Amino acid sequence: MAESTRSLRAEDLDRVMEIERLSFSMPWSREAMEQELHNPTARYQVLEADGQVQAYAGAWLVIDEGHVTNVAVHPDARRRGYGRAVLRALIRQLMDLGVTYMTLEVRVSNEAAISLYKQLGFKRAGSRKGYYEDDREDAYIFVSDRLENAFLTRYRPVKAENFRPQNGEIM
Ligand SMILES: CC(C)(COP(=O)(O)OP(=O)(O)OC[C@H]1O[C@@H](n2cnc3c(N)ncnc32)[C@H](O)[C@@H]1OP(=O)(O)O)[C@@H](O)C(=O)NCCC(=O)NCCS
Repeated sequence: MAESTRSLRAEDLDRVMEIERLSFSMPWSREAMEQELHNPTARYQVLEADGQVQAYAGAWLVIDEGHVTNVAVHPDARRRGYGRAVLRALIRQLMDLGVTYMTLEVRVSNEAAISLYKQLGFKRAGSRKGYYEDDREDAYIFVSDRLENAFLTRYRPVKAENFRPQNGEIM
C-alpha cells in the first residue's frame, strides 16, 4: 500500500507515543505531546503506510526558523525511506509558512539520523557539550541551507495527491 503524509491529529497520539517510547532513551511524555497539538508555534507531520502511522516529525517555528523537535520511525518500519519522507513533508509545510531554514540537535553517536540529515542537505554548525540529560552525551547542531533555494526541488512532493489537506487536520 502506498504511503502518505498529513498533519498530526489527536487520534494519532497512542501510536505516536508507542513509536516515541521505542525510539528514544528519554521519550516525551504523553502530556507534552498532547500539548503540541494546541501549540500555535508547533507543526507535526505523520506518515501512514500499511494502514497505520509509521513515522512522525515535528518542529517549532521561531520567526523564520524551523527547529526540529523530534523525528522517529517505528523500529519495524525503518530503512524504507519513511524518515526522509516525513521530514520532507514537514519542511514543505514549514516553507509554506515562511520558514527559511531548519535547525536541530542530534546525539553525536546517532549515525542513522546524522546520515539522514546530511542526505537532506543539513550541515554541522557546532556542538553542545553534555546536552542530553540521561547520559550527558554531546549533541551536534545541524543547520539546513536556505529553504527557498536548492531545497525547493529537494522537497517537491512526489505525488501531489498525497499532500492535500484533509478534513479534521490540525494545521
Ligand atoms: C533516524 C531515523 C528517523 C531514520 O528513519 P528511517 O526511516 O529508517 O530512514 P530512511 O529509510 O528514510 O533513510 C534515509 C537515509 O538515512 C540514512 N540512514 C537511515 N538509517 C540508517 C542507518 N541505520 N545507518 C546508516 N544510515 C542510515 C541513510 O542515508 C538513508 O538513505 P539510504 O536509505 O538512501 O541509504 C530512524 O532510524 C529512527 O527513528 N531512529 C530513532 C529515533 C531517532 O534517532 N531520531 C532522530 C533524533 S535526532
